[in-house]
Amino acid sequence: MALFGAPLAHEDHAVRACYAGLRMQEMITRYGDELQRSHGVPVQIRVGLNSGEVVVRSIGNDLHMDYTAVGQTTHLATRMEQMAKPGSIVVSDDTHKLTEGYFQFKGLGPAQVKGVSEPLDIYEVLGVGPLRTRLQVAARRGLVRFVGRQSEIEQKRRALDLARAGHGQIVAVMGEPGVGKSRLCYEFKLISQGECLVLEAFSVSHGKAYPYLPLIELFKDYFQIVPQDDERRRREKVGGKVLMLERSLEDTLSYLFSLLGISEPGSPLQQMDPQIRRRRTFEAIKRLLLRESLNQPLLLLFEDLHWVDSETQAFLDILTESVASARILLLVTYRPEYRHSWGSKTYYTQLRLDPLGREDAQEMLSALLGNRARLTPLRKLILDKTEGNPFFMEEVVQALAEERVLVGERGNYRLEKPSTELHIPPTVQGTLAARIDRLGGEEKRLLQTLAVIGKQFSLSLLKEVVEEPEEELYRLLSHLQGGEFIYEQPAFPEVEYTFKHALTQEVAYNSVLMKRRKVLHGRTAQAIERLYQYRLEEHYSELAHHYSRSGNVEKAVEYLKLAGQQEVQRSANAEAVSHLTAALELLKTLPDTPERTQQELTLQITLGFPLAAAKGQEAPEVERVYTRARELCQQVGGDPSALPSAVWTVEDL
Ligand SMILES: Nc1ncnc2c1ncn2[C@@H]1O[C@H](COP(=O)(O)OP(=O)(O)OP(=O)(O)O)[C@@H](O)[C@H]1O
Ligand SMILES: [Mg+2]
Repeated sequence: MALFGAPLAHEDHAVRACYAGLRMQEMITRYGDELQRSHGVPVQIRVGLNSGEVVVRSIGNDLHMDYTAVGQTTHLATRMEQMAKPGSIVVSDDTHKLTEGYFQFKGLGPAQVKGVSEPLDIYEVLGVGPLRTRLQVAARRGLVRFVGRQSEIEQKRRALDLARAGHGQIVAVMGEPGVGKSRLCYEFKLISQGECLVLEAFSVSHGKAYPYLPLIELFKDYFQIVPQDDERRRREKVGGKVLMLERSLEDTLSYLFSLLGISEPGSPLQQMDPQIRRRRTFEAIKRLLLRESLNQPLLLLFEDLHWVDSETQAFLDILTESVASARILLLVTYRPEYRHSWGSKTYYTQLRLDPLGREDAQEMLSALLGNRARLTPLRKLILDKTEGNPFFMEEVVQALAEERVLVGERGNYRLEKPSTELHIPPTVQGTLAARIDRLGGEEKRLLQTLAVIGKQFSLSLLKEVVEEPEEELYRLLSHLQGGEFIYEQPAFPEVEYTFKHALTQEVAYNSVLMKRRKVLHGRTAQAIERLYQYRLEEHYSELAHHYSRSGNVEKAVEYLKLAGQQEVQRSANAEAVSHLTAALELLKTLPDTPERTQQELTLQITLGFPLAAAKGQEAPEVERVYTRARELCQQVGGDPSALPSAVWTVEDL
């Protein structure tokens, strides 16, 4: 058994697993053939894959894990393996959804799987597919209409004009995952294709281990090498193009061949000192690009530099030195954690891409969902949750369509069932979890604690809950701020922190195991009681929330009641109903004692008024509350006729 994405999450865990499966089959087939020849025995393996959540237990402080990850996710993976024909790879529907496009599949239809009641769709992996990046996958689904970003397009436009006039430029697009860096570059590419040669390269999340990968991609693009080309053809393409461009570039050929994995008998590179060879390779590539830029302006696009390997990075550092006087626009994209040293160059511009503003986000949602009036509450829910991140918006809508909350097609959905809660789609979960897991162990643990405390919290509360020494706490907090997970909120009289994204908080929260969650909720609640003992009434609903989740039922009921009463006074009827109903539910889990009856009576009486205000005096729910209250009143020996039967006001309590 192998786990991908644990102990450290990867946003492309499913893709990695498929690659591994393919490679395993390839190697075993080769080995099996050999064994068949030499010993006459066949060897074949079956591979099964599934994707979902597992719990792994860490032992010690490093990444050592107890990998006995058992549960439904693992169980299904085993079933997939058992269902695979020898020599093949079978994946579940969940894995298929995450890897479609990156690989070729054959549907094996719905299959009855042992231990699962409904038949499940399963697929066989046939090989690598045509798509490599997430934007390509999105494009296949159909790109949604491009919104906003006009000033960014303008800035790039100006940079390209300068570059075309011989003043080379570097433009970096920086932003969080899914904010729209690739899309912006894609749109820009479309409008500038006629004016320059566009060469593209991208890094992949496992690319650090693959030296030169982006450069290899870039030159495959330049020499128009396709997978069907055999070695001879590839050599011809490279040699032909370089010599056509300029004869004196002949000495770069060995380096280009080597870069592109084209063998060259008697190549001078074989004996060369690795350092010299590296320097000359960079030199060769640079000369070729600069020479080409004399023929036509170049737009070089390097995507996702946060994953770039060190060799490509070193090359870019060299190239950036020469760009200024060439007809080259070097366009790069990366996420905030990436660092480079070009910042001080006069021909360098950084575009920081923020999530879409409210209006643009609305427009994008209209393009995704359509404009039916009944969708309005859902739109608000999506906007609040995704905070204008286009990738998150797309994925949430896609997930709702898959869950059949939405029916219809892109841009014209109907609401099938009302939805008050949004699940985080696995793609978004993976992206955010991967970011969180790139933190150090202590930072991650602190972030998880913060996620339990809440979206926003004061420094003094934090100090009460965490057990770190103060210096250490400040150090960790500043790391989390640096990584843009949280930010400091100007507040008087004390410092407050806020999670930058609600979704990050949610993913971090979900990664805390139940047992620890309960403890942390309990600690937070007690800390609030201590810290704000003189103005506890400002914190009733927070306390109700934390105690409800800490397993302290008595306290939870008490604060739910207090919060409910407070809301009745403020005419926040819907909130009051929800708190009081929750209190009544929790109360049922306590042993039946006279105190409990008394508690319930108080709660029912309090509930009557806001419920009647929200639902109408005649509503059956309201009647039920009245009836129950009378019953309880009798049980405690009171006189039900003393209860007002129609309109209850707060004073009557
Ligand atoms: N301005 C926009 N208008 C419409 N759709 C957009 C816009 N920006 C992004 N999108 C869509 O949102 C999705 C995510 O965008 P994109 O892939 O460009 O994000 P990214 O910043 O490159 O993320 P990553 O860091 O993961 O590479 C894409 O499907 C893209 O088409
Ligand atoms: Mg991208």
